Amino acid sequence: MIGQDLKQAIQLLRDGELVGIPTETVYGLAGNGLNPDAIVKIFEVKNRPFFDPLILHISGASELEKYAHSIPDAAYQLTNKFWPGALTILLHKNDIIPDLVTSALPDAGFRVPNHPLTWALLKELDFPLAAPSANPFGYVSPTSAQHVEEQLGEKIKLILDGGICNVGVESTIIGFDGETPLIFRLGGISIEDLEETLGKKVEYANSSTQQKQAPGMLEQHYSPNIPIILGSIKQLLEKNREKKVAVISFSESYTDSFKNYVLSEKENLAEAARNLFAFLREADKSGAEIILTELVPNEGIGRAINDRLKRASAKRN
Ligand code: TXA
Ligand code: MG
Repeated sequence: MIGQDLKQAIQLLRDGELVGIPTETVYGLAGNGLNPDAIVKIFEVKNRPFFDPLILHISGASELEKYAHSIPDAAYQLTNKFWPGALTILLHKNDIIPDLVTSALPDAGFRVPNHPLTWALLKELDFPLAAPSANPFGYVSPTSAQHVEEQLGEKIKLILDGGICNVGVESTIIGFDGETPLIFRLGGISIEDLEETLGKKVEYANSSTQQKQAPGMLEQHYSPNIPIILGSIKQLLEKNREKKVAVISFSESYTDSFKNYVLSEKENLAEAARNLFAFLREADKSGAEIILTELVPNEGIGRAINDRLKRASAKRN
């Protein structure tokens, strides 16, 4: 059920049940992050493999020391600048956090979401909320309460309705290898902004110089059910002339296609990010046989959009 009853949400979470929650990035499927039974339910409802760790949502940086240790100063530079916001920080977890949350990794991801409803919820709870995106594993992430209802509505009792997500792509994930900041996932906070705050270049986990792997970052993810091809839309339209085609373009219109979704007529990357997942869902349901799409400028949040488009269109094994 979709609703706005905070009291009910609090009770369900205290009872070890799951609740759909709004954040500024995407909707989450939340449960008590200290309760192994609730955590197992999250994996089951999403049909998510246990090797893919969950992130923990807290109400403020002052809570970090309950759940993590050996926190580098640089982490507090980041929390001061970007929290509440679309940045998840990996820190050495304390034993109070079940190994199930982190898929037995020593680090856990933490973030303070920037949404008044969920923040009010977190203030009332004396545990962190483990919350992955509220979609079946591998599918497009939800950016409205209705998206969650369509796919998980029968499996959870309550989805808190906080409107449409303002950012529209998931949080950026950053960790530290000693002093070196490492990016594990591109997202709502840009690399440019992180480097400016830290005063140094960040590296990518999984890059040729880094041994660290990004768990759960699968090549194919965020995928609609119908095929999706990334490239030059003009050329792809030529090749697919006999098909019913849905085009998701950055700023240009393709009126001769069966459906056309323009991410941002004004070439605004923030607007494009807000529209991305909703358009992928709409195109998937539109009756088209195939989705054709293109990369956006690779800067700021555009990098996160391109990352999602590449994974959405990666070949299924
Ligand atoms: O914006 C977001 O981060 C949203 C909202 C709900 O907060 N949550 C989200 O969670 O995107 P999820 O589970 O869909 O993606 C979390 C990803 C995992 O797939 C994994 O790649 C990475 O975060 N992750 C989590 N814990 C990690 C850890 N300890 N080390 C490395 N990567 C981790
Ligand atoms: Mg996800």
